[in-house]
Amino acid sequence: MKKNDYKFTTIYSLENLGAILSLVGFKNATIVALDISASPLEKARAHFGRTVFGFPVEYVQGDALALPFDNDSFDLVTTHLFMTHIADQRKNQVLAEAGRVLRRDREFIDEEIVVPPGTDLDKYKWFYATLADEFPGTPEQKAKVAQYMVELGAYSEFYPYGSEKSLVASMNSNGFEAHLGGLQEKRLYVNVCASLYQINARKV
Ligand SMILES: C[S@@+](CC[C@H](N)C(=O)[O-])C[C@H]1O[C@@H](n2cnc3c(N)ncnc32)[C@H](O)[C@@H]1O
Repeated sequence: MKKNDYKFTTIYSLENLGAILSLVGFKNATIVALDISASPLEKARAHFGRTVFGFPVEYVQGDALALPFDNDSFDLVTTHLFMTHIADQRKNQVLAEAGRVLRRDREFIDEEIVVPPGTDLDKYKWFYATLADEFPGTPEQKAKVAQYMVELGAYSEFYPYGSEKSLVASMNSNGFEAHLGGLQEKRLYVNVCASLYQINARKV
């Protein structure tokens, strides 16, 4: 099993995106679903086929660090439960690529489940252990998956971008409009140890 070949599907994100586009009244959008690994795309294709909520979908295997798309070719770039899987030193490159392919005045939206600063690390590990428990395998293998997930998400203060200051600097250097306190950050829900975090930024 390759590193990225676990049970991620892109199904959840695609379904949400299709529903939202449909609710806000988009008529002619085409959705491009990108993942570096083949299996999530295959699962999504098997689930949805060629359309999601009536919107045509292209499934593209590719790297978010080097998107296989032209400059200024998208009206919306959205990442979902993804930035926390990208090492801190590579996040800037993801933002640069998002900025490159977006048209001017269009938005980048990122939504993550994150562990807020100050959270008890043991609760955080427990949270990932419950996720890892869904993977097939022996208890030892599940423990390894949980440890792997903790390492993936173990960034400074469990914030998806290291710090808000570094995120602002990174966004501004990649053509977005962002300033401290001006990022639209929404804590949509908070439970024992995780919250849903959303960030919107406009390309200028
Ligand atoms: C938590 S999953 C995303 C879940 C997905 N949004 C969903 O709806 O279920 C993280 C995904 O990021 C993908 N990934 C990791 N590094 C990547 C990269 N550099 N470029 C593109 N995709 C990447 C992994 O293959 C994995 O499918």
